[in-house]
Amino acid sequence: MLNREEAKQKLDEILDLQKARVERMRGQKDFVDYTTLDHLIIGVCGGDGIGPMITKASEDVLRFLLRDEVAAGKITFREIDGLTIDNRITAGKAIPDDVLEELKKCHVVLKGPTTTPDAAYKGPNIESANVAMRRELDLFANVRPVKVPEQGIDWTFFRENTEGSYAVGSLGFEAEDGISVDFTITTTEGARRIAQLAFDFAKKNGKEKVAVVTKANVIKQTDGKFLRVCQEVAKEYPGIACESWYADIMTAKLVDEKRRRDFQVMVLPNLYGDIITDEAAEFQGGVGTAGSMNLGKRYAMFEAIHGSAPRMVTEGRDKYADPGSMLRASVLLLRHIEKKQQADKLERALDICMFEEKRLVITGRDNGATTAEFGEYVMETVSKL
Ligand code: IPM
Ligand code: MG
Repeated sequence: MLNREEAKQKLDEILDLQKARVERMRGQKDFVDYTTLDHLIIGVCGGDGIGPMITKASEDVLRFLLRDEVAAGKITFREIDGLTIDNRITAGKAIPDDVLEELKKCHVVLKGPTTTPDAAYKGPNIESANVAMRRELDLFANVRPVKVPEQGIDWTFFRENTEGSYAVGSLGFEAEDGISVDFTITTTEGARRIAQLAFDFAKKNGKEKVAVVTKANVIKQTDGKFLRVCQEVAKEYPGIACESWYADIMTAKLVDEKRRRDFQVMVLPNLYGDIITDEAAEFQGGVGTAGSMNLGKRYAMFEAIHGSAPRMVTEGRDKYADPGSMLRASVLLLRHIEKKQQADKLERALDICMFEEKRLVITGRDNGATTAEFGEYVMETVSKL
C-alpha cells in the first residue's frame, strides 16, 4: 500500500515512462518493406496450455507453403523456447531477457497463447507476456478480421494495442483508505498512428466508412482524445466517412442482424477492442476461429485471439483444441510478408475445412477431431489447391 507521497512519485514515474515512449514514437522509422529483405526470419513460440499444440499445427502448414523459400535460404523458421509460465515465474519477468533478445532477431513471430497469473495468484506479480511483447516490440495495432459471408459480415477491427488501460497495467497501486488506482493513457501520437492505419486500410480496400468506438461521453480525457484525433485524421481521407460510436451501443448493434452488416472498419482503444473482438469472433464460430495480427513498424506478431485454455489442459482435452485461430493468424502472417498466393491458398483451405466441406469438425471434446487430425486435414486440403 502506498502513502500519499509514494503515490505521487508513482504518478511521476508513469508520466516519465510515457514521455519516453512518446519520444520513441516521434523518432520511429516507417514500416519495414518485406519485399526488400534478402532473408526473413519467422520466430515460433509455442506458449502455454494448448499453445504448443495449436502452434505446431500452424507451423507445419506454413513450412509446407513456404518450402521453396526455405530451401532457397530466403526464409528461416526459428523456434524460440522459453516463453513459458514456469520460465517467466523463475525469471520474475513477463518475458525473460534471453527470450526477448531472440524475439528481436526475428522479423515476424508466430506465437501461441501464454498464461497470465491473475490477481488471486500468490506468486510474483507478473505482467501478461502478450501485453509485454506488444509494448517491447511496439506492436501498436491489433488487427482482427471477422467474416461471415452468408450473413453479410465483413469487419476489420483496428484495436490500439499499446495504450489505454493496458499501457501501465502493472503499475496501478493501492493507496491509503482502501483506494485502488489504475491508469488509462491515450497519447496524441498513439491515437494518430492507429487511426492512420485504419483509414489507410479503408482506402486501400475500398471501404466507405470507419467507426471510432469509445466512451468519450464519459471517459472524457483519454477516450475524448482518441475520438478527436481519429476525426482529425479522417479529414485526410475525404472519401471515407468517420462515424463515432459508443462502445455500449456498438456492442449491442453487433447482435442486430439488420444493422451489423453496415459496419466495415472499426478503430478502438485497447480495452474496448479486446472485449468487442471476442464478441465479434463469436459470430464466426467462436474465439477459436479468429486470428490476430499485432503490427508495429519494425516487428509483427501473429497469434490466436484467445488464451491458453488451462481448463482444457486440466480436463485432459488439450489434444482437441481448435487450431483455427492460429491458422487464421498464419493467413495474416503470409499476407503481411507479401506471400499473397500462399495466403489465398491457406485462406481458401480454411474456408473449405471450416465452413464448406467440414469433413472433420473440432468440438473441443472427444466427440470431435483432434488438433493434429484437423491440422492434417487442412494440410491435405492446401496441397490439393
Ligand atoms: C487478447 C487477450 C489478451 C488481452 C490477454 C491474454 C492478456 O485477451 O489478445 O485479446 O487482453 O489483450
Ligand atoms: Mg482478448
